[in-house]
Amino acid sequence: MTEAPVIEAIDLRKGFNGREVLRGLSFAVPKGVRLVIMGGSGAGKTVCLRLIAGLLRPDAGQVRVFGRNIERLSEEALLPIRRRMGYVFQGAALFDSLTVYDNVAYALHEHTSLAESVVADRVRHLLSLVGLEAEAQWKLPGELSGGMRKRAGIARALAIEPEVMLFDEPTAGLDPTNSKMVAELIAKLGTGVCDTAVVVTHDIELANTVADRVAILIDGRFAATGTPEQVRSSRDPAVQAFLTGEAR
Ligand SMILES: Nc1ncnc2c1ncn2[C@@H]1O[C@H](COP(=O)(O)OP(=O)(O)OP(=O)(O)O)[C@@H](O)[C@H]1O
Ligand SMILES: [Mg+2]
Repeated sequence: MTEAPVIEAIDLRKGFNGREVLRGLSFAVPKGVRLVIMGGSGAGKTVCLRLIAGLLRPDAGQVRVFGRNIERLSEEALLPIRRRMGYVFQGAALFDSLTVYDNVAYALHEHTSLAESVVADRVRHLLSLVGLEAEAQWKLPGELSGGMRKRAGIARALAIEPEVMLFDEPTAGLDPTNSKMVAELIAKLGTGVCDTAVVVTHDIELANTVADRVAILIDGRFAATGTPEQVRSSRDPAVQAFLTGEAR
């Protein structure tokens, strides 16, 4: 028997105030695969991630995570499932009044009873993994550059040793050098840290660096899905307009 996909969406639909944003999305993310969902601003990329994390409920369709349907689970039943997912929110979303150390250690302090020396070792390890110097742990988010904040957000999401990472626009607002560094970091995590991920973005360079598979979200549906090469050779004019930047 083959292993169930880590994430599976079946005919997902979600709308707000009578307007359908997602109009029947189906996809599967097997273990070891990084899926990049691309789409323009307002296409529904963040909605898609929030549905996967159980932070929103679909109007119709199913979301299966780790082989379990989550669309009707209570908040309480969702918690242990969410703790197996690392969510890097759009804009990094660190707690501004907490040091980098307390941000990265946050989930460990909340959900484990690890000794502080163990937490401190884990924080140091995570910071070095994402390319931040140990001194950064004593800083407040406001004292970091945008690129460093993104790295700290990734370290925080990794703290729980997730089985899947969800990245929302991890390169948004970064200059090309920092974007490239974050893209390379995400690709590096695939080797030994967390090999399964969903990345939502409108950054084609990021997709080219990290994607095993790409899905392009246009008008609430996937207009193209497949390997980056397959998607690039799509004959759909809307997909080509998106890829050449006309529709971004
Ligand atoms: N909680 C909500 N209540 C009402 N409307 C919402 C809500 N969340 C999302 N929407 C609407 O759904 C649509 C898709 O939003 P979403 O945030 O998923 O876009 P996105 O693809 O992530 O865009 P961006 O690239 O700008 O982040 C938008 O029109 C948005 O206004
Ligand atoms: Mg978004």
